[in-house]
Amino acid sequence: MIYADNAATTRPSRAALDAMLPLLEEGYGNASSLYTLGQKAREHLENARAQVAKALNAQPNEIYFTSGGSEADTQALFTAARLGEKQGKKHIISTKFEHHAILHALDALEKQGFAVTLLDVHENGLVTAEQVAQAIRPDTCLVTIMTANNEIGTIQPIAAIGAVCKEKGVLFHTDAVQAVGHIPVDVKAWQVDFLSLSGHKFHGPKGVGVLFARRGLVLANIIFGGAQERGRRPGTENVPAICGMAAALTEAVEHMDADRARVTALRDRLIAGIAKIPHSGLNGDAVQRLPGNVNFCFEGIEGESLLLLLDDKGICASSGSACTSGSLDPSHVLLAIGRPHEVAHGSLRLTLDASMTESDIDTIIAAVTEVVGYLRGISPVWRDLQEGKRSYVIQ
Ligand SMILES: Cc1ncc(COP(=O)(O)O)c(C=O)c1O
Repeated sequence: MIYADNAATTRPSRAALDAMLPLLEEGYGNASSLYTLGQKAREHLENARAQVAKALNAQPNEIYFTSGGSEADTQALFTAARLGEKQGKKHIISTKFEHHAILHALDALEKQGFAVTLLDVHENGLVTAEQVAQAIRPDTCLVTIMTANNEIGTIQPIAAIGAVCKEKGVLFHTDAVQAVGHIPVDVKAWQVDFLSLSGHKFHGPKGVGVLFARRGLVLANIIFGGAQERGRRPGTENVPAICGMAAALTEAVEHMDADRARVTALRDRLIAGIAKIPHSGLNGDAVQRLPGNVNFCFEGIEGESLLLLLDDKGICASSGSACTSGSLDPSHVLLAIGRPHEVAHGSLRLTLDASMTESDIDTIIAAVTEVVGYLRGISPVWRDLQEGKRSYVIQ
């Protein structure tokens, strides 16, 4: 099997497992308990907090453990909204291609009377700090823009956007779920007030994440209960998962330079190979993108069929379109960068990691080329394109 869906989730690393297994087997104490077993768990928890803080250039007391990226995103947005509300500011700026954790939290805030501006995304998959500056109003309380997009991997100019927000006195959150562990992240240099990350995107476990909140910003509760995480995120801490995440992150940061260079070379080999397929187009900027992200649209085919046939060949990949409630909606990300519906349906995302080899990449290129050719051979849309009854979107 070739696993090329690392943006969906990653295989837990040996370092993560080594950190977790003894805690699951022996160190299972409740970190709030006063006896030694509990206090040892507390020590592990606080060490993990320090490790995560170091990886982000934050302070340990700015790190709150959550159940993952979705929860961190939600809590960041609701906190900023509550803080804004107190000052009579009820306008939030985001983009059209955020993750649904952001877009759906914004929907909920709109129902509470907040106004939301979703910035257009340029066809290369980027937004600019100038767009943000122009959209800020006197009543803007928050800008939330993802560091790297989960489908097309484009990396936004976060430091420049942070500088604009700082100058205008507006809170800034970034969903860095796809970026952390893959590119350098620095909350101070970026001037972010809130940042979300998720353990399972960098070879840590699932169901655990972090909300960074700059010192002085008091989080609004979205879960109620005990005093854990300074009362801001109640619930018995999942110490094994938190420690697994911290170990995976520490390792990812240590190996980042070497892994980035290696994975970027694999990515560019894969892009060059797939680009040889006629009427295929890379989605998103070729340079400002995550090291492991490759995302293409193909004329005349359906992404789902492509995935199933690749699965038959032992390749795990993903498509931009999501099968929601029985209807096939094209990806909102591909629509946001201007891909028309018919082309957005024929998309393929391959996301790589450092364990892959050039031979894996060549196997993927051969498989994708063959499967696209086969599907086009049985596609009425492709026949119409070939016969000139429809025109190609991707030349
Ligand atoms: C950009 C982005 N934000 C948020 C999330 C949600 O993270 P989690 O699965 O940990 O809730 C994901 C997961 O795919 C993501 O890619």
